[in-house]
Amino acid sequence: MDRNLALDLVRVTETAALRAAKFMGRGDKNAADQAGVDGMRRMFDTIDIDGIVVIGEGEMDEAPMLYIGEAVGKGGPHSPKVDIAVDPVEGTTSVANGMPNSISVIAMAPRGCLLNAPDMYMDKIAVGPKAAPYVDLGAPVEENLKATAGALGKSIQDLTIAILNRDRHAGIIEECRRAGARIKLFENGDVDAAVATCVEETGVDMLLGIGGAPEGVIAAAALKCMGGNFQGQLVPFEEEEEERCEKMGIDVSKILTLDDMVKGPEAYFAATGISDGALLKGVNFIGNGMGKTHSVVMRSESGTIRFVEAIHNFNRKPLYAF
Ligand code: FBP
Repeated sequence: MDRNLALDLVRVTETAALRAAKFMGRGDKNAADQAGVDGMRRMFDTIDIDGIVVIGEGEMDEAPMLYIGEAVGKGGPHSPKVDIAVDPVEGTTSVANGMPNSISVIAMAPRGCLLNAPDMYMDKIAVGPKAAPYVDLGAPVEENLKATAGALGKSIQDLTIAILNRDRHAGIIEECRRAGARIKLFENGDVDAAVATCVEETGVDMLLGIGGAPEGVIAAAALKCMGGNFQGQLVPFEEEEEERCEKMGIDVSKILTLDDMVKGPEAYFAATGISDGALLKGVNFIGNGMGKTHSVVMRSESGTIRFVEAIHNFNRKPLYAF
C-alpha cells in the first residue's frame, strides 16, 4: 500500500477532531459525536482507498454514517482494498464534559486483516516495545509488573499503570497497590492510554483493565506499528453477547494477541487529539479563524511514528469548521 495513505488518514482525523472539539464542555455527547462523524465521513471520500468499515458507529440500522459494512474512500479499480476501524470521537463523554483523553482515531489494514470486534467489553494489557515480549494477560498482575519493571530497568515502585477509573477495576487497582506500583486513573479514553505506553515521554508504562473491544482493536493497530504489545480477551457480560461471539467464531476463552486482532505485517494508525491527553494535545482554537491540532500517524512497515502539529485556516478550508 502507498505510504502516503498514512498522511491522508491524518487529514481525516484532523477534520473530525476540529469539528468535534467545537462541542467541548457543552454537555452534549451526541452532538460532539455527530460532528466528528460528519467530518470524518466527508473527508474519507478524498482518499484513494476501497475501504470497508469493520469497526464503526454501529450496525447499518443504527448508524446513518460510518456504519459497519459501509464503503468509504474513492474506491477506484486500482485503489487498495482495506479494512477500516474508526472512532471519530473516542471519549464522547470527555468531550461533552471538557475532560481529557478524547481523540479522533482510525486504524487501517488490508482487507480481512482487522478483527471485526463486537461491541462489548475486552480485558486489556498494553506495554511498550521494551516490555513487549514479557507480559501475558493470563498471568497475575504482579508478575506482569515485575516483568515490565525488569524490562524497563525500573523498580516496580517507579512504574506507572494507567487504569480506567471504574468499580470493576477495584481488584487490579488493589493488586497494583499491593505490589507498590504507581497508578494513573483516568475517566475515559483507553486508546490514548494504550498508545501512550509506547511513548516514553508520557510516563505511562502499562495499561490494564476492561474497556471497549472495538477500541482494543484500534489500539492494537497502533501498538503493532510501534512494536509494543497489546493483548485482549472479550468479556461478555450477557448470554446474548456470548452467543454473538460464538456466531462470529470468536472464542471468548482465548487471549487475543496482536496478530489475532491485526493480522499480517501491514497496519496504519492515525489519531488527532480533541481534548488534552497523555499522548496528544487537544484542539486549540487560536483565533482569526484558525485552529491548531496535534496528531500522531504511523505505519507498521516502516515503523515511522510522526507527530504532526498543524495549523488550519477555516476561511480557506470550510470543511474543517461549521
Ligand atoms: P466512548 O467514546 O464510546 O464514550 O468510549 C470511551 C471509553 O472510555 C473507551 O475509551 C473505553 O474503552 C470505554 O469507554 C469504557 O467503557 P465504559 O465507559 O462503559 O466503562
